[in-house]
Amino acid sequence: MEQLAAQIEQYKTEISAATASNKEELEAFRIKYLGTKGLVKTIMGEMKNVAPDKKKEAGQLLNEFKIFTEQKFESLSSNAGTGSFTPGQTIDTSLPGYPLPLGARHPISIIQNKIISIFHKLGFAVAEGPEIEDDWHNFSALNLPENHPARDMQDTFYISQNPAWLLRTHTSSVQIREMEKGKLPLRIICPGRVYRNETISARAHCFFNQVEGLYIAENVSFADLKQTLYFFVKEMFGNDVKVRFRPSYFPFTEPSAEMDISCLICGGTGCSVCKKTGWVEILGCGMVHPNVLDNCGIDSNKYTGFAFGMGIERITMLSYQIKDLRLFSENDIRFLNQFTTAL
Ligand code: DAH
Repeated sequence: MEQLAAQIEQYKTEISAATASNKEELEAFRIKYLGTKGLVKTIMGEMKNVAPDKKKEAGQLLNEFKIFTEQKFESLSSNAGTGSFTPGQTIDTSLPGYPLPLGARHPISIIQNKIISIFHKLGFAVAEGPEIEDDWHNFSALNLPENHPARDMQDTFYISQNPAWLLRTHTSSVQIREMEKGKLPLRIICPGRVYRNETISARAHCFFNQVEGLYIAENVSFADLKQTLYFFVKEMFGNDVKVRFRPSYFPFTEPSAEMDISCLICGGTGCSVCKKTGWVEILGCGMVHPNVLDNCGIDSNKYTGFAFGMGIERITMLSYQIKDLRLFSENDIRFLNQFTTAL
C-alpha cells in the first residue's frame, strides 16, 4: 500500500509537469497515461496485490489518481486547441465555421425607408427635428393656441423638470422648424418618433412613428395634394387600391381632409380590420392654414402649401397584415426575423 502511494505521488509530479502544444503531443499524453495499455490502467492492475483490508483505501487512491490524470488531459486539450501553432503545423481550413446570426431590418424601418424613397422620386427631401419639443413648435405655431379645445385630440407627456418642454405628439412640429428657416420653396418629408399619453392596446401605443409631408411654394393647390397622395398610394400598395378623401378638421390646415384606402385585408368587402366598412384611414392632410404660414414669417398672400401626416405603424400593419402594433416594440426575435426582405 505504501509502495503504491509513493508510486502514485511520483506519477502525479510527472503528469503535473507534462505539456502538449499540439495535437500530436496531446495524443501522446493520452496514450501514455490513459490508453488501454497506459499507466492508469496498469497501476489499476496493482489492486490485486493489495492486502484485502487495504483494498478500500487503495481503491480510493487509484480512483482519485485516475480523475487527476483525466482532468490534466482536459486542461491540456483546451490549451492545445487555443494555443499558438508550432511551425510546420497545418490547420484544416475545410472545417465548417461557426454560423453568425443574421440580422434583419425592423419592419417599421423597412416601411419608413420605402415611404422616403417614394417621396424622394417627387423631389421631397428628408428633414428631422427633436423629439423633445417646446409648446410653440408642437402646438401654438400650428394654430393650436393654449386652451384651444383641439389640444385635447392629443394627450401630451410633459417633462417634469421643465414644464415648457414636452415630448412631441406629432411630426408636424418639424414643419414649423423648417418653415422658420425661411428657405422657399420647401418640399420635405419628416419621419420620426412621436409620443402620446395613450393606454397601450393592439391599436394604440404611447410611442409610435409618423411621416409628415410639406410642400410650400407659389400656386400650390389641393389638386397638387391629391395627385401627390395618389402617386404615393399606387407606389406603396399597387394600382388596384382605391382611394377616397373625407372632409375633416385639423387646426393647422384649411380645408382639411382624411384619406382612406380600400381595405387590403378583405379587398373592400368588409372585415374586422376595416370594421366592416371596406375602407381604412391612412392619413390626415390639407392646405396649410394661413395663420401657420404667418407664424413662421412666410407671406400667406404669396405662398400656399399642403401638408399631410401618416402613422408608419398603420402602413406597416396594412402592408404585412399585422394585427397588433405592440409587436413592433416587444423585440421578440421570432417576429423580427420574418422581415428579412423589403416588400
Ligand atoms: N399631425 C396630425 C396627427 O398627428 C396628422 C396631420 C394631419 C398632419 C393633417 C398634417 C396634416 O400635416 O395636414 O394626427
